[in-house]
Amino acid sequence: MSNEIRKFEDPGLPAHVHRKTDTDPKAADRAERQVAILFVLSALSTVLAIYSYIFVKDDLFFFIPIMGDTNAHQLGLGLGMAFALLFIGLGLVHWAKTLMPDTEIIQERHEFRSPEEDRNDFVATVKEQAADAGLGRRSLIKRTLGLALGISALTPLVLLRDLGPLPKKDLETTSWKKGTRLVTDPGDRPIRPEDLEVGAVAQVLPELAVGQDRTLSDIGKDAVLLIRLRPSEFQLDAERLSWTHDGIIAFSKICSHMGCAVALYEQQTKHLLCPCHQSTFDVTRAAKVIFGPSARPLPQLAITVDAQGYLVAQQPFTESVGPSYWERSS
Ligand code: FES
Repeated sequence: MSNEIRKFEDPGLPAHVHRKTDTDPKAADRAERQVAILFVLSALSTVLAIYSYIFVKDDLFFFIPIMGDTNAHQLGLGLGMAFALLFIGLGLVHWAKTLMPDTEIIQERHEFRSPEEDRNDFVATVKEQAADAGLGRRSLIKRTLGLALGISALTPLVLLRDLGPLPKKDLETTSWKKGTRLVTDPGDRPIRPEDLEVGAVAQVLPELAVGQDRTLSDIGKDAVLLIRLRPSEFQLDAERLSWTHDGIIAFSKICSHMGCAVALYEQQTKHLLCPCHQSTFDVTRAAKVIFGPSARPLPQLAITVDAQGYLVAQQPFTESVGPSYWERSS
């Protein structure tokens, strides 16, 4: 048997098949309108996203089968942005498949910089292809694509409001006020000191007034951890000790690093741990940071009991809860 390697013949390209839109001007016009409709749908989706962001209340929920209670504000924003990008993509694909030239072109590969002649050819080809694609002739597509792309750029600009004036003082205040009862979460039951044994931990929220509702962002700021120690275990100054009641101390549950829920308590060491980046807070020393990236202790809520013997806040938090950042005073 011969070991000679035999060349095989170049099979070449299959014969080019024209699309309907290449030969039928009506089909081409129909495809142009379809592309334009997709771009207009993209623009409308962007309007939906912006409308949801500005006008739909962020505490409005409605029921959707399978998904359950769904936040209308976030659903509108998410669907609007998703469809805006989806329709631009679909429009571009449909345009490319039906109206742009689809002839196969073989390009020779060269190393590094192409010869000047090739570069000029390339520029001429791009201009020719742009003309073939109908950028000049199909002004409906050009205008609606410009509308879809232009208006989609508004979404990130509008969302910038969250970094600026929109939150106002919201990040610096919570619902805790003087005399607000601490209630269990879940359950909304007021708590007496005797409900907590030494070593116990409970998550609490401020009691709601009749007819009042809790929003997700309220819960995100108001969540508090109650921990009961023996009073002799505290190493606090006189003021902070007066913020405790009968061995019960209360801290914001929102991590002062990046806002995760501080959810782990080591009963033996009296340490609170944030599972996100392992910041560790010493409960006996007013949640002083003893490990991890957090820059400040968890804010302590001053508590006492009311005339009926239920735990209440002595005053609002004296500093902002949640992540530290460069603009905040505490
Ligand atoms: S968010 Fe808690 S340690 Fe980073």
